[in-house]
Amino acid sequence: MSGLLAGKRLLVTGVITDASIAFSVAKLAQENGAQVVLTGYGRLSLVERIAKRLPEPAPVIELDVTNAEHLAGLADKVREHVDGLDGVVHSIGFAPQSCLGGGFLDASWEDVATALHVSTYSYKSLAVAALPLMSPGGAVVGLTFDATKAWPVYDWMGVAKAGLESASRYLALHLGKKGIRSNLVSAGPLRTMAAKSIPGFERFEDAWSERAPLGWDLTDQEPAARACLALLSDWFPATTGEIVHVDGGYHALGA
Ligand SMILES: NC(=O)c1ccc[n+]([C@@H]2O[C@H](COP(=O)([O-])OP(=O)(O)OC[C@H]3O[C@@H](n4cnc5c(N)ncnc54)[C@H](O)[C@@H]3O)[C@@H](O)[C@H]2O)c1
Repeated sequence: MSGLLAGKRLLVTGVITDASIAFSVAKLAQENGAQVVLTGYGRLSLVERIAKRLPEPAPVIELDVTNAEHLAGLADKVREHVDGLDGVVHSIGFAPQSCLGGGFLDASWEDVATALHVSTYSYKSLAVAALPLMSPGGAVVGLTFDATKAWPVYDWMGVAKAGLESASRYLALHLGKKGIRSNLVSAGPLRTMAAKSIPGFERFEDAWSERAPLGWDLTDQEPAARACLALLSDWFPATTGEIVHVDGGYHALGA
């Protein structure tokens, strides 16, 4: 087997359609020599159908990342397919509608708590659930949207992403002694199901299309997926707690 991830065993969360960033990660990973196990949330039969569109059909394990039983049983379920994990991809985000689209001042704590549980705390939960299968050289990779700034319609999801960015640094701190890395890819706006649920998302689209120095294709998940693969590979052996921007250079600009 050849390729950037030859022989690597990956757990990839977050596939719901073939536009999911996770789908591009799984596809490219297989094309580059990895064995992929997927997790699916909610509509499992849909995820299984999408999984069949990968170059190699991939097994799908049910995982609601807020469900303690699912998390406790994850390692055993993964072991039915692979004998260990070299990489884990967290490509999960959700916020109730009240938390997005300008509702920052009115969203209830219950709704905000849901957003933080699914989008922030779950990064740690997933890593800990997979840890029994991981060994030195392993990597955890997640997806963020630049949380150093307040965006017009992102509201509590932006706060959740700021927490995710911090959680990744703490994961780097706590897993470093086991030789496991934690890094994030900060992607520009992409037309996925999660993006479509954000009222006013087109404001991001317009901003990126007009300003990204390299230009930006809102329908091309591959650049973000490629960065995930690079961070999962052996080519970033001494990098952890890092955020790699895959946004056409937008983050580097001033006002
Ligand atoms: N699309 C963008 O513009 C963009 C930009 C930067 C970062 N991101 C991030 O990329 C990641 C993937 O999102 P996407 O854009 O590919 O959208 P997507 O809708 O394809 O993926 C989101 C995934 O989260 C899963 N999910 C939601 N609640 C869950 C739960 N309780 N347990 C397990 N899984 C759950 C969904 O099933 C879905 O597969 C998210 O973290 C998102 O915030 C997206």
